[in-house]
Amino acid sequence: MKNFWRFIFRRNLPSTSLCQMDFAVLGLGDSSYAKFNFVAKKLHRRLLQLGGSALLPVCLGDDQHELGPDATIDPWLHDLWEKVLGPHPLPLDLSLTPPGVPWPSKFTLKFLQEVPSTCSEELCVTGTDPQGPPSELQPFLAPMVTNQRVTGPSHFQDVRLIEFDITGSGVSFPRALGVPHSFVAGDVVLIQPENTASHVQQFCQVLGLDPDQHFTLQPRELGVLCPARLPQPCSIQRLVSQYLDIASVPRRSFFELLACLSCHELEREKLLELSSAQGQEDLCEYCTRPRRTVLEVLCDFPHTAGAIPPDYLLDLIPLIRPRAFSIASSLLAHPSRLQILVAVVQYQTRLKEPRRGLCSNWLASLDPGQGPVRVPLWVRPGGLTFPKTPDTPVIVVGPGTGVAPFRAAIQERVAQGEAGNVLFFGCRQRDQDFYWEAEWTELQTRGCLTLVTAFSREQEQKVYVQHRLRELGPLVWGLLDLRGAHFYLAGNAKYMPADVSDALTSIFQEEGGLSGPAAAAYLARLQRTLRFQTETWA
Ligand code: 2AM
Repeated sequence: MKNFWRFIFRRNLPSTSLCQMDFAVLGLGDSSYAKFNFVAKKLHRRLLQLGGSALLPVCLGDDQHELGPDATIDPWLHDLWEKVLGPHPLPLDLSLTPPGVPWPSKFTLKFLQEVPSTCSEELCVTGTDPQGPPSELQPFLAPMVTNQRVTGPSHFQDVRLIEFDITGSGVSFPRALGVPHSFVAGDVVLIQPENTASHVQQFCQVLGLDPDQHFTLQPRELGVLCPARLPQPCSIQRLVSQYLDIASVPRRSFFELLACLSCHELEREKLLELSSAQGQEDLCEYCTRPRRTVLEVLCDFPHTAGAIPPDYLLDLIPLIRPRAFSIASSLLAHPSRLQILVAVVQYQTRLKEPRRGLCSNWLASLDPGQGPVRVPLWVRPGGLTFPKTPDTPVIVVGPGTGVAPFRAAIQERVAQGEAGNVLFFGCRQRDQDFYWEAEWTELQTRGCLTLVTAFSREQEQKVYVQHRLRELGPLVWGLLDLRGAHFYLAGNAKYMPADVSDALTSIFQEEGGLSGPAAAAYLARLQRTLRFQTETWA
């Protein structure tokens, strides 16, 4: 993708490069982010500029759509097929699989008669002299050292400070010591979670699978790859607990395939209905809105589930994806350690059972006090980069768990003697969710940090970080305009980023005497030059 992007935006490409080419761009995005479908829009414009002709307007797929992303994508795909199949009909012998007939599975799964005597159970690195840094293909099995609740007892959310020992991982030394593979402030750690044991058991039961049975997996086609790290032979137990995302909310294609595989008339009819174009509102009501999971759906269709051919397991159920967390510690302050701040995701829908985030709940359930616990992880650059020039001040705004990447940044800067660190932190109450209060206070006493707090629920009126920013407008403006400070923002994507940007533009007007449009342009310039960076999550 990077190569393609670099190529397509080369300045010297003639504007007639694509004059023979029809194209259509489908973007997959989430409208709660400021740069919603930015890449798709930009690509569409560029292809036009290079002389291509657009078959259709760019499709802005939206994960926030009430009926799921398919609601924006389906009509567009429909139009696309019409446009394409007219001038370019499929040859007859290559016609599409008729509806209701399953397409061939991607893999063949062969059960072994006996449990193999030598079983390659661990494909992860457990330390000492790994071949290069840990990666998705070879995660590091990091011992969990602490898993501590950091929110007060009356706070609605369970937030954990989790620490891993990464000695021997290949990323445990600071980059400053000349080790190429390491992490710095702004980087993220990827964690590969597992399903809950009770879910694994339930899944095996409803599918009629024996968790202890072993199998081998083979792709049926060229270009289809077995899941990374899957040992061969592998047990069903391991496949279900570590690979199949049975706690995810199934997409429409799941129902489509399940309908094809079903031999139970009533269930099949219902599944066909849910996967039809007319059934989308029903599907949303049944599945997407209440966040019903793959496992729960299978339990609702027990006859179908009990007869799923194992070959189809990996076509039907997506793989568990790793989850990214901002790294909250610096190697300069915590050698050989890596810390994260995890909000344990749990919420209620109209379903009786609360919805639980897979990774955060799995992490929260691990107790290093009860015996050794190891978690597969690797690190990767994140979206934030901090100034290399020691004299450049930074203003960081991180309400709630948004403060995590800034803890790493401030630790790193303080350890290197860099002054000019301003932190705006917001939370509900000082004694409930003020993460790292003692540490910030100590840094402030030492003169290494200017700490500004906004406690939203300690008075009648809400006080948020953007209110405190406005109050300190002269300081903020002075640092940005006179001292070339960098400004960072991290946290919940919902309203806070827009509110903070508004506060900034009004500071530019009031303190800098800029007009409305000039203030907006000032902010845009900060963004373009990477002096205003955000990391937000939905
Ligand atoms: P609240 O929950 O009292 O509304 C961390 O979650 C902090 O961010 C909390 O104090 C929360 O306040 C606050 N917060 C909620 N919405 C916000 C917004 N739009 N802008 C800034 N802070 C917000």
